[in-house]
Amino acid sequence: MTTVIDGKQVAASVIEAVKTATSALETETGVKAGLAVVIVGDDPASHSYVTSKSKMAKECGFKSIQHTLPAETTQEELAKLVQSLNEDASIHGILVQLPLPKHLNSEPIIQSIRPEKDVDGLHVVNAGKLATGDLATGLISCTPAGALLLVRRIHGEDLSGLNAVVIGRSNLFGKPMAQLLLNANATVTTAHSRTKDLPSVARTADILVAAVGQPQMVKADWIKPGATVIDVGVNRIAAPERGEGRTRLVGDVAFTEASDVAAVITPVPGGVGPMTIAMLMANTVIAAHRAAG
Ligand code: GUN
Repeated sequence: MTTVIDGKQVAASVIEAVKTATSALETETGVKAGLAVVIVGDDPASHSYVTSKSKMAKECGFKSIQHTLPAETTQEELAKLVQSLNEDASIHGILVQLPLPKHLNSEPIIQSIRPEKDVDGLHVVNAGKLATGDLATGLISCTPAGALLLVRRIHGEDLSGLNAVVIGRSNLFGKPMAQLLLNANATVTTAHSRTKDLPSVARTADILVAAVGQPQMVKADWIKPGATVIDVGVNRIAAPERGEGRTRLVGDVAFTEASDVAAVITPVPGGVGPMTIAMLMANTVIAAHRAAG
């Protein structure tokens, strides 16, 4: 029997801890944790993510502000907003939702966020701290941090002796995920679209993490029997069985057939997704604690 990890339940326990830490901080220091989320343009999926983030921030007891900017926003306007949030002492976390519209260059924007407020963990200072194993003073990218928490629920803190394969090499997920697994003593392979014979590489994994952005690409024969499979993909596909024009969310793993081979698997939706928001809240209260000294 395969164990399906309930990410919503694990995320709920993280959120409870965040609420406790938030109210303790406010009682002890008078500091209310503050999160600012910035979204540019009209992408419906991004709007839905950002709405969930802002709502959860309020539920956690944060000061929660959302800046919704039009698609025509210029690089300078966005840079100016980030600068003002950097200088706002009531804001401890800044998140600029990605992707930005094509005419904007996201890299200078992300690098202009003060590292102490970079709750996405994308600033080179935070990426560098993770790469050098300094987990105590940096901020870690939310989706990999959440995925690692799920892995730890199954395998414990120490992943010594386990082979982990991460498929995907983005700055937002693949690279930090590999670093986190390495920090936890796993033997880590980062595979990607240019990897030769991806299924064979994937089959070496005790812990297989899929973040390719291709619906149901990871098949049963990519999976070592008994492996733990973490599905980070969120893909919307046509679902004619639900009626004309209807869609549904699927991951990067062919869930039903993979469940016959894996010992543990995360579902989509309800696996890694809820963990991303929970870890964003955790990063914000951590940043607020640090700012309060
Ligand atoms: N777009 C999709 N996931 C994320 C995320 O974790 N952070 C940001 N900023 N944008 C995203």
